[in-house]
Order: sequence, then C-alpha cells, then structure tokens
Amino acid sequence: MTISEHMRVADCGEKPGLSQRLRNWRNKLVADADFQRRVARFPLTRRFARKQSEDMFRVTTGFVQSQILFACVEIGLFDILADGAVPTHEIATRASLPLESAKRLLPAARAIGVIRSTGDDCWTLDDKGAVVLGNEGIRAMIRHHAMVYRDLADPVGLLRDPGRQTETADYWAYAGTRAGHGVSDQDAHTYSALMRSSQDLVAAEILDAYPLGRHRKILDIGGGEGAFLAAAGARHADISLATFDLPPVAARARDIMAEAGYGDRFEAHGGNFFTDAIPADADCVTLVRVLCDHDDAAALKLLQNIRRSIAPSATLLIAEPMDGSGSGDSLAAAYFGLYFLAMRSGACRSPQKIQSLLEQAGFKLLRKMPTRNPLFASVIVAKSDSKV
Ligand SMILES: C[S@@+](CC[C@H](N)C(=O)[O-])C[C@H]1O[C@@H](n2cnc3c(N)ncnc32)[C@H](O)[C@@H]1O
Repeated sequence: MTISEHMRVADCGEKPGLSQRLRNWRNKLVADADFQRRVARFPLTRRFARKQSEDMFRVTTGFVQSQILFACVEIGLFDILADGAVPTHEIATRASLPLESAKRLLPAARAIGVIRSTGDDCWTLDDKGAVVLGNEGIRAMIRHHAMVYRDLADPVGLLRDPGRQTETADYWAYAGTRAGHGVSDQDAHTYSALMRSSQDLVAAEILDAYPLGRHRKILDIGGGEGAFLAAAGARHADISLATFDLPPVAARARDIMAEAGYGDRFEAHGGNFFTDAIPADADCVTLVRVLCDHDDAAALKLLQNIRRSIAPSATLLIAEPMDGSGSGDSLAAAYFGLYFLAMRSGACRSPQKIQSLLEQAGFKLLRKMPTRNPLFASVIVAKSDSKV
C-alpha cells in the first residue's frame, strides 16, 4: 500500500474536514525520506529532528532498555553502589558476571540514566538509580514485569485472542471470571507482597490530595495487607482503621498490622466484596487500585454492593491510575491498557467513565482531586446523599 492509499484508509467519513486534510498533507510530508533528510540538515530544524528521532529510537528499543534495567536489579547493582563509587572489576565480581559482561552492561546502564561513570573506570549511582535503590516497590515491579512481558511477547496474538491463557491472569488469582473465588494462601501472599511494597508512593499521593483526617473511621475495601491504612494511620493518629478483603488476605493484614503496632485501632474483615455485606460503620470508604482490576459489569456490581452496605452519609474515595489528556495520564492508560489485557480483566478508566459507573450505582456529586503524579494514582471522591 502506498502512503497516499494509507491516508485514504485513515480518512473517516466521506469528506475529511480541514484539520484532517492538513494532517494528511503533513503526514505525507513527514513520511517522505527526502523531507526527513532536509529537516535533519537544516540548521533551524536540526535539533527538532534529532529529538524526534531519539524519541522514536527510545520507543522502538524500549524493550531492550527495560531489560537493561531488569538486569541491573537482578544483579543487585543498586545495592553494590549504595555507598559510593565502585570499580568495574569489583562490580563484576560482586555481581557474578564475567568482566566483559560487566563492561557491556555498565555503559548501557549509564545510557538509561541509572548510573554514571566517575571517569576512573568506577561507577556511581545517578538520580534514577538512587530512586530505584530507595524504593523496594519499584524493584519489585521491575522484577514482576518479567512475567508480564512474557505474556506481551506476542501482543497481536493477545489482542486477537484476549481470552488466551496468561501468566499474569494466573498471578492475579481473584480477577476476571473467578470473581474472588478460589484464592489460595500462596496466591494471596504473592500478589499482596507486591502490592504492599508498591503502596508507599501511592499512599503519599492520595493522602496529600485528600485530607483523611476529617474522618472518624476508614474502611479500605480490597485493602490488601493494610499498607495504605498504616500510612493513613501514621498521619492521622485519631482515626480508626478497617479493611475488607478476601479471607486469606484479611488474615495476613491482621497479623502484619498487629506487628506494626496498629492492633487496637485496626479491624480486618474477610469476605467477597461482590456478594458479602460490607461493614457499615465507617464514614469514609476507600478503593485503592481496586476498581481498575475489574471489567465494567464487575466494577458496577462492586459499587452497587458498597452503596447498599455503607452508611448513606459515608464518603467513597476511589484512587487509581486514570485515563486522561495529560501526558502522565495517557502514559498510565497505555501501560495499564496492555497490562489489563495480559491480566484478562480490568480497565484504566477516565474520570468520566468512573463517574458514569458511580451514577449507575447510586452515587453522586463527584470531585476529582489533583495528585502530583497521575502515574501512581488520581483521586475521585463521591457520596451517595449529600454534598462532598
Ligand atoms: C490490586 S490489589 C490492591 C491492594 C491495595 N488496595 C493496594 O493498593 O495495595 C486488589 C485487592 O482487592 C482484593 N480483592 C480482589 N477481589 C476481591 C473480592 N472479590 N473480595 C474482596 N477482596 C477482593 C485483593 O485480594 C487485593 O488485595
């Protein structure tokens, strides 16, 4: 197919409007190899052309960059460099790598911005590497991506056959048609540990966006091992904390929160949030990274159950990555869109879509609270009866 044939296929409707005609003209120009060469040579456009081609290169080679990062985490590079600069040969020894492999990996790690050379064949952490060192949750997510990327190795196959067997769907043992049934202690342990280790950054965003201190009791539905509640409890010493999660997860939360010193302030309720009654005594109910796990019909069922169970005056807070027009939101939506495809359940929804589900479930008067980093979470607040 020629470029102009492609353009004709892309036109929507009989007669493309002016902006579409301009876009078609521009795309033909940009696709032209001569034009690209001219832009790359011309002094005023050279820098723009180089940036465009570097961006394109980053996207095209993104998998290799992820693998470089994965290798750095797996060999413990960030820990090796935790206390300062280390020479190449010592990194090789401590990471059990042949020297030649270390010489291949370390410049690659520099290129993705996680380490820097000190100029004397020694290496030290760069800013991104220091962030990875300081955050076990990021390291756990990077390791866990090995599984997700195996499922995404054939994206077209998965897009054409979204119901096919995947490791990611097995990992999230409660999701999809299983609707919370048959989750073993081992399943619960595996996914809950990952969730707990990645909760710190998310909790900080939510607690900065919405002042939970105005509430008496928080019920975190699908609250995992209680990491969000622990963060909320540490900020607001007077609020009572409760979670409602599948029985094996609630049991783990009970032990972990007792050990962390929250025993007196914390209750753990085990049950299925689609079908079981949810405790009614909290004045704020939270869903943190929970609604997005489920397809629309299941998400609606969950919201309806919450609406039926909780006090009419209670506030409902939903926090998760949401789709939107900002670059952070659309990056999150692109990532989670494919992630949920591999998981065979869930959606990264826009605030408007969540609002529509909330309204169908009998909630109203929403507010979207701004967060600093929509990659971690955006926040929506709803109530069933009075002004938020
Ligand atoms: C993605 S995790 C989020 C955990 C936690 N809110 C966080 O952000 O770290 C989803 C949680 O929902 C719980 N869950 C899933 N299906 C459930 C069901 N049908 N009933 C109760 N809890 C469920 C899971 O056990 C898990 O703890």
